[in-house]
Amino acid sequence: MSNLQKICLSIGYPIKSSKSPSLHNVGYKALGIEDQFIYLRAQVKPENLKMAVEGIKGLGIRGVSVTMPHKQEIMKYLDEVDETAKKIGAVNTVVNDDGKLIGYNTDWVGAVVALEKKTNLKGKKVAVIGAGGASRAIVYGLTKKGAKVKIFNRSIEKGEELAKEFDCGFGEIGEMREIGDYNIIINATSVGMNSDESPIDKELLNKNQIVFDVIYSPKETKLIKEAKEKGAKVVYGYEMLLYQAVEQFKLYTGLEAPVKEMEEFAKNL
Ligand code: ATR
Repeated sequence: MSNLQKICLSIGYPIKSSKSPSLHNVGYKALGIEDQFIYLRAQVKPENLKMAVEGIKGLGIRGVSVTMPHKQEIMKYLDEVDETAKKIGAVNTVVNDDGKLIGYNTDWVGAVVALEKKTNLKGKKVAVIGAGGASRAIVYGLTKKGAKVKIFNRSIEKGEELAKEFDCGFGEIGEMREIGDYNIIINATSVGMNSDESPIDKELLNKNQIVFDVIYSPKETKLIKEAKEKGAKVVYGYEMLLYQAVEQFKLYTGLEAPVKEMEEFAKNL
């Protein structure tokens, strides 16, 4: 191997369970560019984030995927943050453009592409449960596509703030009776991650709905299982993960991602 490989990284804390490295490396292999790109992970404690960002430049790292808890904090250390990431208020992708670090957000694309495989979003009534980072990206994407969004969140203040920012409705999490009439239901909380819990009462789900769970571990969350039992269409968390990675792949390599091969891998995570 004579070429110097371009290095991409996932950073987070903890980072152990991140699926992004394998997903990108599968893409490099499928395109036969694994001698040009390699994707690794690095655990970065919050107090070391600034140094880590300097290290991106120092080491000439090509791209960095940013995960919890750094998505907001990292913005202040970058040379530029694109308009969309600014609106969302979070960066999940950093590109090193000849020493200039530019922040992007591909999470919203991941959510929108995954949903648009099932339906057109314009005019659809969508209930989004949660008001954290994932929810912000999803709500941005949905409103951009003309969906009618109502946010439900446990902490009222945070939920109301997000709703106001994106001109959406807000409801308390204990008052979700009305979501039976919604076209699309999205879990953007951490409820169900490696646990057998669902944030939504099964009785509120029905066969006319599309139910999307951002959680990808486990793949078949309690919410997804119950939605299927009710005859609803489902969108898996891995689909959002996949399509946000596809967008990152383009930003890092300048090439179209091999979606089929990456999907085959992602669905079996
Ligand atoms: P992420 O960036 O992954 O979205 P986050 O910013 O920590 O993570 O947001 C987590 C979301 O899950 C929040 O909306 C949180 O509700 P609060 O704003 O009330 O904290 C929601 N959440 C987490 N645990 C929850 C639970 N047990 N019940 C309901 N909502 C929960």
